[in-house]
Amino acid sequence: MDHHGLRDRTIVVTGAATGMGRAEATELAARGGHVWIADVAEEAGRALARTLTDDGGRATFFHLDVTDPSAWADLRDALTDGPGVVHGLVNNAGVSHRYGIVDTADEDWHRVLDINLSGVFYGMKYLAPLLKGADTASVVNVSSIAGMTGYFAAAYAASKWGVRGISKTGALEFAPWGVRVNSLHPGLVDTPLLWSGAPEFVDESLRSVPAGRVGAPGEITDAVLFLLSDASRYVTGTELVVDGGMTSGGLYHRLLSGLGEQDTSRG
Ligand SMILES: NC(=O)c1ccc[n+]([C@@H]2O[C@H](COP(=O)([O-])OP(=O)(O)OC[C@H]3O[C@@H](n4cnc5c(N)ncnc54)[C@H](O)[C@@H]3O)[C@@H](O)[C@H]2O)c1
Repeated sequence: MDHHGLRDRTIVVTGAATGMGRAEATELAARGGHVWIADVAEEAGRALARTLTDDGGRATFFHLDVTDPSAWADLRDALTDGPGVVHGLVNNAGVSHRYGIVDTADEDWHRVLDINLSGVFYGMKYLAPLLKGADTASVVNVSSIAGMTGYFAAAYAASKWGVRGISKTGALEFAPWGVRVNSLHPGLVDTPLLWSGAPEFVDESLRSVPAGRVGAPGEITDAVLFLLSDASRYVTGTELVVDGGMTSGGLYHRLLSGLGEQDTSRG
């Protein structure tokens, strides 16, 4: 049974060729949705669309660079000529960049902001008429725990706080059309992006995760499905954090682990 009611809904997932987007696209197709895999990774994206279609699902690959407004206009036109409406938009495409203010090259600042934040703006702007045309629609903007707390990486943090902010603008602006907009804040999730830097980064970060492990892409997918579905029909303008407790209690998890067997009842 389809508990999420996503059957026959048209859902666009950006950055769906790999990582979390791939997991989300796969699950959406399995539940009878028509998923549009929008990515710059042509080969991987097309291969995924083929696999999902071979498995009996409905999937379309569309070459989209989220930083390019004319590509978004092309996607809007293709969707207008095809299904005519969009029920779900997952603005998931993003890149990692782990440098502070002093060490961030100017061009990297603009590149990361362009992909991680402008891509979300364009997505909501260009697909708005199609979201408006659906009887029910939901936008999920993928931010990060870097958009919830102070974070060491300048461009990444700024972009993810920006995603959180513009999601609230979208929630206000789109509410009269029955379109919901929420931001999603994953913690450490086992994808190529997580492992793109030094492996010690992950090991050290895990000391602040009460759940004691990284998340699986499928665990983020479950949260995305909830936000896309009618199960969350009164949820808009909010932040959903899926991080194994890192931002809520990571500090004390780390402190208590450091104290080990010592008596922690004194303070
Ligand atoms: N993995 C984590 O631990 C983690 C944690 C918090 C937030 N996030 C966020 O989750 C999202 C997905 O991350 P992931 O870990 O699955 O990463 P990933 O690197 O596995 O996948 C990112 C996808 O985005 C695509 N992409 C990159 N630039 C693009 C562009 N200009 N236009 C279109 N597509 C583009 C890539 O081709 C790739 O398919 C990102 O926004 C990321 O910032 C990831």
